[in-house]
Amino acid sequence: MKVEVAIAELRKSRVALPHPFGFVPTMGYLHEGHLSLVRRARNECPSVGVSIFVNPTQFSENEDLSAYPRDLDRDLRLLEAEGVDLVWTPTSEDMYPEAYQTWVAVEQLSQPLEGLHRPGHFRGVTTVVAKLFNAIQPDKAYFGQKDAQQAVVIQRMTEDLNFPLEVVVCPTVREPDGLAMSSRNTYLDPKQREAATVLYRSLSTAVQSFEAGERDAEVLRSRMSEVLATELLARPQYVSVADPFTLEELDGPVERALFSMAVHMGKTRLIDNMVVGD
Ligand code: PAJ
Repeated sequence: MKVEVAIAELRKSRVALPHPFGFVPTMGYLHEGHLSLVRRARNECPSVGVSIFVNPTQFSENEDLSAYPRDLDRDLRLLEAEGVDLVWTPTSEDMYPEAYQTWVAVEQLSQPLEGLHRPGHFRGVTTVVAKLFNAIQPDKAYFGQKDAQQAVVIQRMTEDLNFPLEVVVCPTVREPDGLAMSSRNTYLDPKQREAATVLYRSLSTAVQSFEAGERDAEVLRSRMSEVLATELLARPQYVSVADPFTLEELDGPVERALFSMAVHMGKTRLIDNMVVGD
């Protein structure tokens, strides 16, 4: 497994690898969710690369950039064990030198949901992913359904900018009790960790209601909020029933829906989602 830091070296190592080249962008502190993407890439591609970069431009000033968990040695061991060919760990100075001033923004899809509560977040995500794609030139790139809006935004960007690659979206990996795996789960104390299953319980309730025939968006939203309200440690920020493709909030009867939510547990902000319909 080659580990590169400088962009020029990364490009050299990349061109030596066979097609199709599968790529998994991450911010490190890897867990089974990340590794599921790596395994999918490994299954589908003769060569696989992973980037580890805690991207400063997708964090706002009051967010947890400096506190974001990091453990590069452990990450490299895990990736080596998965048979990854190339790891890229760029520096902030190389990615955003002093004179840096170029941004990629997916205008409408970045506005609702996470975009409303994390202004500028997706501009940072799309800018860094465009830069990563440009440097590493993948044939396939793997993203998690855990970050549903991110996946939709990246798919739009990839089409709009004609990146010659396929975006593959992989299912959310969960702990045995349903909590979606996330690097941020390490911030939870034992009581918050137990309470955090409320997101899964709330989303599952909406899915079950939908499967039992309930189609009214307002009713489905209320079902989720009711479950969240039973958990005193949970402070919901938003609870949404949206179109899975346009991300517009839905009213009235729905045929398909993205159920999603952001919930504060103490200082930790958790997100999760489930999709119903075809
Ligand atoms: P990060 O949070 O490290 O996630 C990297 C990838 O792993 C994303 O595609 C994310 O959706 C996926 N992932 C995280 N938890 C998952 C889970 N429980 N199940 C399945 N997939 C999961 O997302 C980012 O980094 C950044 O925004 C990035 C795209 C790297 C740009 O900086």
